[in-house]
Amino acid sequence: MSATKQAAALTPLDIAERKNGAPLVCLTAYTTPMARLVDRHCDVALVGDSVGMVLHGLTSTLGVSLEMMIMHGKAVRRGVAHALMVVDMPFGSYEQSPEQAFRDASRVMAETGCAAVKLEGGATMAPTIRFLADRGIPVMAHIGLTPQAVNALGGYRVQGRGEDGHRIKRDADAVAAAGAFAVVLEKIPEPLARAITTDIHIPTIGIGASAACDGQILVVDDMLGVFTDFRPRFVKRYAELAQEAEIAIASYAREVRERRFPAQTHVFDETLGADGVETSS
Ligand code: KIV
Repeated sequence: MSATKQAAALTPLDIAERKNGAPLVCLTAYTTPMARLVDRHCDVALVGDSVGMVLHGLTSTLGVSLEMMIMHGKAVRRGVAHALMVVDMPFGSYEQSPEQAFRDASRVMAETGCAAVKLEGGATMAPTIRFLADRGIPVMAHIGLTPQAVNALGGYRVQGRGEDGHRIKRDADAVAAAGAFAVVLEKIPEPLARAITTDIHIPTIGIGASAACDGQILVVDDMLGVFTDFRPRFVKRYAELAQEAEIAIASYAREVRERRFPAQTHVFDETLGADGVETSS
């Protein structure tokens, strides 16, 4: 047995118990290296279906398949030891019936090793959330702007302004009562996010929903500045990776063309082993 005890991975119950506690820190991850970084600092690593737009160049999340989510889920699993890993159910994999949702969600859990799934929808999806929760599948709900419904919502607009706030409030009450362990609130006004967070017994995780929520989530590539042409109001950029990468790639291209890379320090001669370490003989 190892002398240093590893901290156990967070469970959906741990996350639920953080209601009104220390803010929940959540980010997306789609690959093993990024999952390792996220895991060191976050409570939740979400394999979001945003992967379709972020890594695969799709124009919406509608084209993301169950197979894509499972593939990225497996990759993230290899990088996560502490955070709760949640995998998004993609469009078309859960809306038809609670039975369809159970079949697909149980497959996602069995094949990726995640501890919970996330699905979009409020009052309409409450019976499905109840069905899954009663059968051992922890569900994170997602209401407000639900990107899989982008066509029905008329674009990626703020939801719940004015009278429409009652609809979002009903959604929040319904998913909490149905047994979701947490709920993502996307792109809703601050007063509505505050009212929901005060009223429901499960943690709210905001994205474009203000600091009134119990936690925050962002798409990791957005906050790292991987995209130059995507600057929504709710994203704060903590790095400018696209600019850094552009400078690095341009330097590499220049040095190769000028035959300055590789330099002597990057090449092998007869005295070095195959891995670059000097041989003893
Ligand atoms: O797919 C996703 O990345 C998400 C979040 C950002 C909440 O659903």
